[in-house]
Parts: sequence; structure tokens; C-alpha cells
Amino acid sequence: MQRPRLLPLQSRLLAYLVATGACIALWTPSLPLVHAAEVLVTPDHDALDSLALHAFTSGDIPHIGDEAFDREESDGYEPEFSYLDRSLIGRQTDAPEPLKNNEKTEKDIDPETTLHFVFEKGQLRLRSVVDVPLDALEARGIDNASDEAGLGDTTLVPGKEGDVGDDEMGELAKRQAGSSRVWLTANTCRQPMPNGDAKEARKNHPQLVMYVSTSPRNKQPGPDATQDTLTNITGVLFDGGYASFELNTTSDVYIGIGAPKLEEDWFGSWHFELAASTDGPYHSYDDATPFLYMIDTDSESTLFISQNLSSSNDTVEVDRWRAQNPFHMYAFPDGEWTPVTGLERSYCALKEQFNVNATRNFTIDTSITTKFNKIGGDDNMPKSQFHVRNLQSAKTYNGFVVIEGSQQPLTIPGTGTTRGGGRVFQAFNWTTKADDSCQVLFDLEFCDMVAYAVPSNTKFKLNDSALAEIYENQARTYYDNFNKSLAQVACDTVSEAQYSLAVTCEDCAKTYKNWLCMVLMPRCEDWTATDPSLVPRNIKTPFANGSLPEMIPGFNDSAAFSQSRNPKIDSEIEPGPYKELKPCEDMCFDIVRTCPAQMGFACPNGVQRMGMYGQRDENPDRLTCSFPGAVVKLNAKGGSGMLGVHLPTITSIAGLVAVMLLG
Ligand SMILES: *[C@@H]1O[C@H](CO)[C@@H](O)[C@H](O)[C@H]1NC(C)=O
Ligand SMILES: *[C@@H]1O[C@H](CO)[C@@H](O)[C@H](O)[C@H]1NC(C)=O
Ligand SMILES: *[C@@H]1O[C@H](CO)[C@@H](O)[C@H](O)[C@H]1NC(C)=O
Ligand SMILES: *[C@@H]1O[C@H](CO)[C@@H](O)[C@H](O)[C@H]1NC(C)=O
Ligand SMILES: *[C@@H]1O[C@H](CO)[C@@H](O)[C@H](O)[C@H]1NC(C)=O
Ligand SMILES: *[C@@H]1O[C@H](CO)[C@@H](O)[C@H](O)[C@H]1NC(C)=O
Ligand SMILES: *[C@@H]1O[C@H](CO)[C@@H](O)[C@H](O)[C@H]1NC(C)=O
Ligand SMILES: *[C@@H]1O[C@H](CO)[C@@H](O)[C@H](O)[C@H]1NC(C)=O
Ligand SMILES: *[C@@H]1O[C@H](CO)[C@@H](O)[C@H](O)[C@H]1NC(C)=O
Ligand SMILES: *[C@@H]1O[C@H](CO)[C@@H](O)[C@H](O)[C@H]1NC(C)=O
Ligand SMILES: *[C@@H]1O[C@H](CO)[C@@H](O)[C@H](O)[C@H]1NC(C)=O
Repeated sequence: MQRPRLLPLQSRLLAYLVATGACIALWTPSLPLVHAAEVLVTPDHDALDSLALHAFTSGDIPHIGDEAFDREESDGYEPEFSYLDRSLIGRQTDAPEPLKNNEKTEKDIDPETTLHFVFEKGQLRLRSVVDVPLDALEARGIDNASDEAGLGDTTLVPGKEGDVGDDEMGELAKRQAGSSRVWLTANTCRQPMPNGDAKEARKNHPQLVMYVSTSPRNKQPGPDATQDTLTNITGVLFDGGYASFELNTTSDVYIGIGAPKLEEDWFGSWHFELAASTDGPYHSYDDATPFLYMIDTDSESTLFISQNLSSSNDTVEVDRWRAQNPFHMYAFPDGEWTPVTGLERSYCALKEQFNVNATRNFTIDTSITTKFNKIGGDDNMPKSQFHVRNLQSAKTYNGFVVIEGSQQPLTIPGTGTTRGGGRVFQAFNWTTKADDSCQVLFDLEFCDMVAYAVPSNTKFKLNDSALAEIYENQARTYYDNFNKSLAQVACDTVSEAQYSLAVTCEDCAKTYKNWLCMVLMPRCEDWTATDPSLVPRNIKTPFANGSLPEMIPGFNDSAAFSQSRNPKIDSEIEPGPYKELKPCEDMCFDIVRTCPAQMGFACPNGVQRMGMYGQRDENPDRLTCSFPGAVVKLNAKGGSGMLGVHLPTITSIAGLVAVMLLG
């Protein structure tokens, strides 16, 4: 923080006029305020000075009780106390507060006030100066080049320029000849609140407005001083608590942050942070992507996976992310009004509100994983994984992924560079499942590629490992038998004896294991889910509440749908009625392709295959069958819809598991 400097009288007068102008008129951005504007347009400083003297000496003073004026008056007569006043009482300053390159400034702001800031042109040259070799700096009398405060002092640099050698002078001139690019960004961290039952008002959260001027004729831009501004009459309205403005300039940049008048039923003030940078936006918002996929959800938890954090799957790189993961996820229950409504694009607001006590019951565990890939491959790229637990069932939540701000800029493929103010990605929502009949399992020991909801029961709701054990033990048993068969197929002999040059027994073992786990642990959805790719299971079994599921019109009562694919599910887990997303048929083809012909694997054909397997959709964002590493694209348009349930016409899938397990 820089110590506020004493400013010439006219500046204070401007502030005074602006402040009183704001009090006289109702705050309406589109309403030009004639009085203030006329005075401010006047470039004649002498005239202002005499006006000012007049204002402070004559009796022509606004009525007593005008807070803005009282403040001006005390500042005018007791300048030596003004610094203390401002810092202790937090009064509105009349002098624009200087901003430092790449440093945020935080302020509280009351309704119908405007705070002023200046990004002085000395800050624009900061980069050029830093680029000059160290000895040149020393030659110019700057003893400590790494002293940021020293470099930040705008009076220091221009005064020393004469000492620079001819070559350096040329270089400096060249850099300074062009205008400098400046990014102004802001986040609202706290905002006024609506009264308890002011439902109407909750819909439109009042947002702050940014005004920017580079004209010496308007050093205090605001709602009532929009002449000569780059952001013109309406300013830059904060959107979801985020504002950004970019400009090229050679001169001082004047910034005003204006707060609107509050409607009835609202109370409180705002808290915001503002930053200027010559390198890129200090605060970032990415409206193109949530940067996240949902792996699956159940009635109590949800698992998410980020996009690749890096373009390298090198273990050193992966470990680096494990040691320091800058990604965080925040979530809030969806509703008419939540603590972040109107602040969805503000990093500081999301972070602060998420950590307020008692607003949530759930927890979010964050880790780095190298599993999962949209198309089922095995790239081992580092990704951030978020496991949300203790959620309520059948409830919609709003989620946000952010990259933590840090002074060291961080560049991640596809996201650009994140600076001190952090980065917020597009918000997303998801709804937890209604029933306890499906449960998300992941990070299993044997079926390590499984990460989705599998058939379950309330008794396993808070005990993933007990549920996983049932499935895993079964899978291991089948796999042992397979392994014994595979061992008989001369896998470890030299290449002539090998069944194929292109694939190995390891490939066979891997595809078999994937297939086995996916078939024994079907991907599960609520009974009420309507996606046409889903098939009903256990249709003759009662729900936990004792009632039987309603029969689907036109649906023939077949044995295939009255039980689970894996008999163990019905005997040991007893999930009740649920729906299943069938495994993808390519998982079966893969076994036939990669395993020795002697093993006798074959995939079913025609109608039988349609009953057992699903097919991938041309649109990779649409999940129509289950495969290892499958993810759900968040915010994807045109999902399942209410298309009804289309069932295959086959009448039997008996022996589905047996056909291949014992083949
Ligand atoms: C306001 O500024 C925008 C660009 O910032 C410009 O496109 C628009 O024409 C301006 N409007 C007026 C009335 O000057
Ligand atoms: C500033 O200048 C750069 C090139 O020097 C250009 O790419 C950018 O669009 C300009 N920005 C504005 C707001 O004019
Ligand atoms: C991760 O990177 C791999 C390899 O570049 C790519 O194939 C895959 O689609 C990426 N995954 C995600 C989730 O972006
Ligand atoms: C949050 O809760 C902890 C203890 O549970 C307490 O120490 C802390 O003061 C609380 N913070 C707020 C902001 O209420
Ligand atoms: C938090 O969970 C407890 C029991 O687990 C429940 O009684 C309480 O209502 C929950 N609170 C919220 C805000 O959901
Ligand atoms: C890393 O990724 C490449 C493809 O991008 C892949 O060929 C390689 O097997 C991966 N390495 C590991 C250890 O998974
Ligand atoms: C969830 O997000 C989608 C797409 O962004 C939106 O259309 C939908 O209204 C949201 N649902 C809720 C309950 O907010
Ligand atoms: C989970 O179930 C297993 C086996 O039934 C049991 O040993 C374990 O204590 C349970 N854990 C919890 C946290 O209930
Ligand atoms: C499969 O059998 C081989 C020996 O034939 C053994 O080395 C390997 O560990 C077995 N794999 C599993 C997963 O049991
Ligand atoms: C019983 O539970 C199922 C699944 O949660 C639900 O669809 C059904 O409406 C419930 N029936 C009654 C009578 O509550
Ligand atoms: C249901 O069965 C009847 C005869 O049993 C048959 O005519 C009809 O096509 C079947 N419907 C479906 C949807 O399979």
C-alpha cells in the first residue's frame, strides 16, 4: 500500500462535486448528470481553483449533514490527519489510489459511491526498466534492482533516464515508442444481501461498474463522469462479480469503480479487488469450458475428473502436480439464492463463500490421478480428481473449478496463463441420484479401470470397500481361471511360436480383465432415468419401500429384465429395480482380436449382441454404452431428454456371462 499523497485542491473539489452529484441524482447509469459533467468538462484549472476557494470560504455550502461535504471539509482543513483518518476509519479517499503493476488492491464500497484509482504511466515503463541489464540499473543509481517497492515508485525511473547509455536509451525509446498494453481486472468478493423473503429482488444481483479514462480531463471517471472515458456512458458492468478491460496506452490510466443504489429489501456493501497488469489479466474467467468431466454420481457422492493438466505423462511431471495441485473445486446447493449467486465468476467470492461455516455439509477431496481418458485409452496424463461426499440425494448442485492464484504465472495447455488473481472456469451443475441402488466405486485394487456407479444397496451406502470386495473377489476368481488357460497357450515362448506378432498375451490379459470387470460390475442408473440407451433390470423386485416398479407400457415381461446381468448382484447385493448402461460391444471384439484363437472366444451376433452390448454414439460427448474411463461431459447440450425407453426385442440374455467366462 502506498501512502496517500496530498493532492492539489482541485482534485478534491472534483471528488466533492462527484460525490454530491451522486447524492443529488438517483443512481442510474443511463441518466447523464448535467451538473457534475459540465463542471468536469472544464479544462481550466485556474477556474476550478477559484471555484474551490469559493466553495471553501464562502457560505455557499451545501446543507450541514451532507456527509460527502463534511468529509471534504475536514480533509481540507486538517490535511495532516487525513492519512490516519483514512486508514483507521476507512473513509472514501478523494485522491485516486495508485495501483501497482501485478498487485491487487482491495476495497470496501458502499452503495451509490465511486472509488478512484490511477495506474500511473511510470508503471507502464516497469517492464522496459526490468529488461535493462542489471549494471545499467546500478549505473542509474538504483541500488537494489529486486526491490519491487523501489521500482514501483513512479517518480524514480523517469528522473534517472538521462544516465542511461546511448544504446540503452535507444532500446528504451523503441520499447516506449509503442503504447503499452494494460489489462484491468476486478473481482467482487462480497456483496449486499437480499432480505429474508425478498424473492423478487434475488433475481438481479446489483453489480459494480468499472469506468476507465486515459484523459487528463477526466481523472475520476464514474457514473456521473463518463465524458472522455474509454468505457463510455455505461461503463463495464461486472458480470457474475468479474470485470475486465484491456487497453493500449502511453499515459496514466484512471479507473473508477462505481456501486449502484440498492433496491428496497437489500442491505450491505461490496468488497472487491482490482488489479492492473502489463503482462496479461491478473484475474481470469474462462467461459468456454468447465474444465471438468463428471465420472459418475450416486445418491451421496460424485466423482469428477479434470482435463489434462499437462501435455506430458512423464512421472517427474506427474509427481510435480501431486506435490502441488493448484486446482480446487467449489460447490453450492442449487437454489433460488445461494451465497455466490451473482458472483459465479469471482475467484475470491467462490473461495471465501465455500469456506464459510455451516453453509454446507459435504466435503471435496482433491487428488491427482493418471487414469481416465475420454475415449477409453491409457495415456497416463496427470489430471485432477475431485471426490464430493456427503451430498443429499436427488439434489442439484452448482460446481466451479478454479486455479489458485499465485505470483508466479502458471501456464496450462488449453487454459492460458493464470496470474495472482486466479482463474475461474465455466460453472456447471449436476444432480445426485435419487436411489441408493447405485453407488460410485473407483480406485479399486483389481478392477482398477472401474470408476462409475455400480448396483448397490443402502446397506453399503457409506462403506464402499464392503461393496467393492464382493465384486472384486468374484472378478479375481474368474480371472484366475482365465489366467490358467492363458498360461497353456505358450505365451512366453519365442516369436515363431507366438500366436500373433501384433498382439501379445499381455494385451489379451488386459482386454479380458477390462471386459470381465465391466460385465460383472454393470454401470448403474436410477430406475427413473429415461436415457434410451438404458435397459431396466430387476423389474419384478420391490423397491426398498416395498412397492413394485410400474410396468413400462408396451414392454414385454421377459426373464432378461427381471434379473441382473451378474447373478451375484441379486443374491448378495440386492439393489432392487435399477437401469443399466450396457458395456460397449468393442470390448468384446477386443478380446477376440487380442486373445489366441485356441481360447475359443467369440462375440454373439445380431439380436443377441444388441441385447448384451451397446454401441458407441458418433458424438463422443454422448454416453450410450459403458467402457473403462468413460466420462460425462458437463454442460453438454441435448442430452437424454424424454424420449421414452426403447428396448431391444430380444427375449433372452441368459448365459451372457457364462458364454465368455467359460469359453
Ligand atoms: C461505447 O464503447 C464501445 C466499445 O467500448 C463502442 O463500441 C461503442 O460504440 C461506444 N458507445 C458510444 C455511445 O460511444
Ligand atoms: C493493443 O495492441 C496489441 C498489439 O500491440 C493488439 O493486439 C491489441 O488488440 C490492442 N488492444 C486494444 C484494446 O486495442
Ligand atoms: C489428454 O491427452 C491425451 C493425449 O494428448 C488426449 O488423447 C486426451 O484426449 C486428453 N484427455 C483429456 C481429458 O483432455
Ligand atoms: C468456523 O468453525 C470453527 C469451529 O468449527 C470456528 O473456530 C470458526 O470461528 C468458525 N468460523 C466462522 C467464520 O464462523
Ligand atoms: C447436515 O447433515 C446432518 C446429518 O448428517 C443433517 O441433520 C443436517 O440437516 C445437514 N445440514 C444441511 C445443511 O444439509
Ligand atoms: C505417455 O503417452 C504416450 C502417448 O502420448 C504413450 O505412448 C505412452 O505410453 C505414455 N506413457 C505412459 C507411461 O503411459
Ligand atoms: C444446469 O445447467 C444447464 C446448462 O448450463 C442449464 O440449462 C440448466 O438450467 C441448469 N439446471 C439448473 C437446475 O440450474
Ligand atoms: C465396511 O464393511 C466391512 C465388511 O462388512 C466391515 O468390516 C467394516 O467395518 C465396514 N466399515 C465401515 C466403516 O462401516
Ligand atoms: C497369471 O499367471 C501367471 C503364471 O502363469 C502368474 O505369473 C501371474 O501372476 C498370474 N496373474 C494373475 C493376475 O494372477
Ligand atoms: C418407492 O421408491 C421408489 C424408488 O425410490 C419410488 O419411485 C416410488 O415412488 C416409491 N413408492 C412409494 C409408494 O413411495
Ligand atoms: C410383446 O409380445 C407380443 C407377443 O407375445 C409381440 O407380438 C410383441 O411384438 C412384443 N412386443 C415387444 C415390444 O417386444
